[in-house]
Amino acid sequence: MRLPEATSSFRDDTASSLPTNGQPHSSWPANPRRAHGKAQLEHHHGPHRILLVDDELDVLQGLRAILEEAGYVVTCTTNLRLATVTLEHESFHLVLTDLYLGDTDLGYQIADVARKQKPSTPVIVLTGRPTFDGAQEALRSKVADIVVKPVDAQTLLATCRRVILETELTRRNQELETANRVLSSVLPRTIEMKDPTTSGHAERVVGYTDTLAMRCGVGPADRANLRLAALLHDIGKIGIPDHILTKPGPLTDDEMEVVRRHPAMGYEVLGQLDDHDDVRTWVYQHHERWDGKGYPQGLQGEDVALPGRILVLAEVYDALAEERSYKPAWPIAKIVALFRDQAGRHFDPDLAKMVADGLERTGSRYFSANPGMLF
Ligand SMILES: [Fe+2]
Repeated sequence: MRLPEATSSFRDDTASSLPTNGQPHSSWPANPRRAHGKAQLEHHHGPHRILLVDDELDVLQGLRAILEEAGYVVTCTTNLRLATVTLEHESFHLVLTDLYLGDTDLGYQIADVARKQKPSTPVIVLTGRPTFDGAQEALRSKVADIVVKPVDAQTLLATCRRVILETELTRRNQELETANRVLSSVLPRTIEMKDPTTSGHAERVVGYTDTLAMRCGVGPADRANLRLAALLHDIGKIGIPDHILTKPGPLTDDEMEVVRRHPAMGYEVLGQLDDHDDVRTWVYQHHERWDGKGYPQGLQGEDVALPGRILVLAEVYDALAEERSYKPAWPIAKIVALFRDQAGRHFDPDLAKMVADGLERTGSRYFSANPGMLF
């Protein structure tokens, strides 16, 4: 059994009374298996830190030895007051506390402090006397787990690892949610600030493309990429000068030429999405036409894959169905007539017919089948 290396991390007024040859409590195996060694627990930000709280010194010593042997950095305290102060001044990956601390304090109380940390610190409570009331109290205090004593080192370490991992996953999940909000909300807003005529356009086109993709039997992977392409299809407009993008009245040929570069600029901007070639391609192709008269490449028919053709149509549908500064919202009947007229010209004929029929049957509800499932 390795003794604590230093008492500097031992937060207790009675630290000097620690037995120098402290042996673990009889409940604790002296040598946890090396399988729980440092290599498994090393984190890219360094080893995990645990705040250990117990008012029985021999138990504290035993637990500390087990945890340190497994590679944790352990700070020990023997009462609630010191634990609270320590927790408020240092950060830990986990608090491991005995349920009964002295005559009056309960380990749960540290959970209230730990929960207010940013990020909150998970708490495991150790108890020799599990009760129904205790379980209720644990729920109320939102402790991560309760470990019933006596417990073997393997179970204790497995619980610590699991709780730390779950906390880490929750934190990463929150980061991903934030990143997702940036992608799905902040980025479209940025495009709209450049081109205020298209408020909410990208988000609506995401919904329209996904509804159509679902109706056409496009698979889930392509649908996910198509949602991304729909969200970002006009991102290249960031590269178009404001005086052209917001010019009232018709554009000159030269200005039109600049506007027509936005699919290529979008393709360029999305170069970092190097494992999402389809997304980039569909952004690049969103102004192509079935008859080859679109831009930038003048592709024809099925040269543009079905998801790309869906995006072409959905983008036009939104432009027609919404009011713009230069035109009112078109009534459904007028949109239906245009889709029928442009089937095989601007649009994939089968797709245009399917949408025209659907709009005729159910009106704009045809496009709002799944409004809440974008990302
Ligand atoms: Fe566009």
